[in-house]
Amino acid sequence: MDPRYDVLEDAARLGRAFVDSLDGRAVGAKATLDELRGRLERELTDAGEDPRTVIAELAADAEPGLTASAGPRYFGFVIGGSLPAAVAADWLVSAWDQNTGGTIAAPAAAVAEAVAADWVRELLGLPASSGVGFVTGCQMAHVTCLAAARHAVLAAAGWNVEADGLQGAPVVRVLAGAQAHVTIARACRILGLGAERICVVPADDDGRMLAADLGAILREHDGPQIVCAQAGNVNSGAFDPLAEIIAACREHGAWCHVDGAFGLWAAVSPSRRHLVDGFREADSWATDGHKWLNVPYDCGIAIVADAAKQRGAMASTADYIPPNESDVLWGLEATPEFSRRARGVPLYAALRSLGRAGLTDLVDGCCEHAQRIAARLDADDGVEILNDVVLNQVLVRFADSDEVTNEVIERVQQEGTCWASGSRWHGKAVMRISVSGWQTTAADADRSADAMLSALRATTAG
Ligand SMILES: Cc1ncc(COP(=O)(O)O)c(C=O)c1O
Repeated sequence: MDPRYDVLEDAARLGRAFVDSLDGRAVGAKATLDELRGRLERELTDAGEDPRTVIAELAADAEPGLTASAGPRYFGFVIGGSLPAAVAADWLVSAWDQNTGGTIAAPAAAVAEAVAADWVRELLGLPASSGVGFVTGCQMAHVTCLAAARHAVLAAAGWNVEADGLQGAPVVRVLAGAQAHVTIARACRILGLGAERICVVPADDDGRMLAADLGAILREHDGPQIVCAQAGNVNSGAFDPLAEIIAACREHGAWCHVDGAFGLWAAVSPSRRHLVDGFREADSWATDGHKWLNVPYDCGIAIVADAAKQRGAMASTADYIPPNESDVLWGLEATPEFSRRARGVPLYAALRSLGRAGLTDLVDGCCEHAQRIAARLDADDGVEILNDVVLNQVLVRFADSDEVTNEVIERVQQEGTCWASGSRWHGKAVMRISVSGWQTTAADADRSADAMLSALRATTAG
């Protein structure tokens, strides 16, 4: 064995010690940013340092600034845990260091990604002909899917956007619900469609697009249109009425894109798949591996029903790259990236290790734990649950007061049993709880709800 690689074993040991600590450590970070800079900011030497020293000191210096976001009681944002097989596969991906832009430089990694793509399509029940690209996250999945949408709706209007850009092109109107995730607007910004040009369709109190209004709004514009629907609101977990939205898109010749960063995976749960009724008829879907599929960062998934449209928007080549004569869709045909890591491989390992039933249990378990936390909190007079807990998201308001709610969030984060973040919902401060990890148990749910109630007591007593 080449001793220069002994450092890999050090990293495996240190990584192992960290994941073993997840259940027992304070969930939030302990060190301040200044303290972390003080620890990590070392002299950059001319001669370089021994790799084993670098790794040992990096792990030690970072330790107090690490959060247990992969652990059982982290409920911030929508941050999934990491399944053991997925973490291990991710380490292999780094050791292999394959450039997975295509099959030429990375045959095994590209084929493993293609198999993962098959499983994603099969689990979601999407057509085998759809294109799947593994990108950094749902943000870039939107960019990829909306680029395919832009390509298709402009091609239908006789315009080649890849060749001629948007200057002088027919106006493309994007429509999204009032509660669309901010990454939709950001994708429109990046694609030259204009965040401020999005036509906002009203939503109901839980954040669902009002589909009844959509037909009339689509009728207003005589030109290319793209509708962005949502499966799983980042705050409430609510689902847009996808079947109605897609039917309106079909009637008016609009492209329908679905943001299903986490919510799309309701499709694998027999008791929750009604939430995504009709979703398979959409034109594109953006989702994440690093949220509910519990693979490490970064892994987003861009799926386009007609792979030719994805390729039309993304594919590029050069004299030094041979044509793709395989039946494997290359990364550089399906994503905005050229060189890239094999980020679909940890997903391959995650899905294999879970199996179909394991994935359903993961989704259902998170939803049940979210409901359990909500019920335990709701039993307290000082607590109000503001959303209909249809999925894994809970919105909690304490003492009907912004001040108390924000202080409870602060205390919960400081105390360390669990971690949840804040948001605003209909103008009011809320704590938002997202249960997205494989490790959470009913006992974790109870323990976390009790820690939140203790924080409420401490706040109102003070
Ligand atoms: C509904 C929704 N869409 C998109 C995103 C962005 O996902 P990512 O952070 O993977 O880019 C999120 C993130 O929470 C989300 O909840």
